[in-house]
Amino acid sequence: MNTFQAIESRRSVRQYQNRPVELDDLLMIAEMGMHGPTSGDLQDTRFIIVREKEAIEKVAEMCLEQLWMTSAPSLLVVCSQPSVQAEWYGERGRHVFSAQNAAAAMENALLAATDLGLATCWVGGFDQEKIDDFFGVGDARVEGIITVGYAAETPEKKEMHDHLTTIYFENYGNDKIDMDLLNKDYSKKIEKKLKETQKKAATFQEQAKKYLDQAKVKAKEVHKKYVLKK
Ligand SMILES: Cc1cc2nc3c(=O)[nH]c(=O)nc-3n(C[C@H](O)[C@H](O)[C@H](O)COP(=O)(O)O)c2cc1C
Repeated sequence: MNTFQAIESRRSVRQYQNRPVELDDLLMIAEMGMHGPTSGDLQDTRFIIVREKEAIEKVAEMCLEQLWMTSAPSLLVVCSQPSVQAEWYGERGRHVFSAQNAAAAMENALLAATDLGLATCWVGGFDQEKIDDFFGVGDARVEGIITVGYAAETPEKKEMHDHLTTIYFENYGNDKIDMDLLNKDYSKKIEKKLKETQKKAATFQEQAKKYLDQAKVKAKEVHKKYVLKK
């Protein structure tokens, strides 16, 4: 599976087979998560692997009673360290970078799991205080939870928004795209440039003729005044 295939085939799965995930696979997924970019390369994201059924049931309750989570044999709890980021990057580090680092790690983890033939779902709906407390994260923070298992359902192919309505050029909201360039059809561009150049050349030619005529008139005047007079 290549990167594009992993990105396109990943879907959120909310029903899992009653089959455990190998610890090696969970470790690999977390490791791949850690390969994501982090501000200052601080690599401050942390993963907690959860495999105890009772713990998963408690977590599902704290996730606003998303009881479908209990069919997953394992969870990866992804934590950020806002205070570490704050030391380096102040308030932006604390509030923005720490969450972004964890999100980058989470997406990497989802793709790695897809590559291993595993199904996942990103869970962000939970009681922050209860979850942080349950995992004893101290001044770290749970940013998201990933359910990991073997799929017991096959989600339909995702209906995507038309990409051309989600991409802008140079400024927010500018969706005007030059279709000729997009299709790598440069012939119209070249034709346009050629016409512009021809027009410029005609203007120069006209201008040159005008100067030449003026010079001829001047020459005749000089001839009359200085040559014929003698
Ligand atoms: C920040 C975030 C929070 C999410 N929280 C939940 C959640 O609490 N429960 C859930 O079932 N799915 C959750 N999802 C998964 C989305 O519902 C899912 O990604 C979306 O419907 C698109 O479907 P796909 O993942 O199959 O492409 C979350 C996704 C993100 C990015």
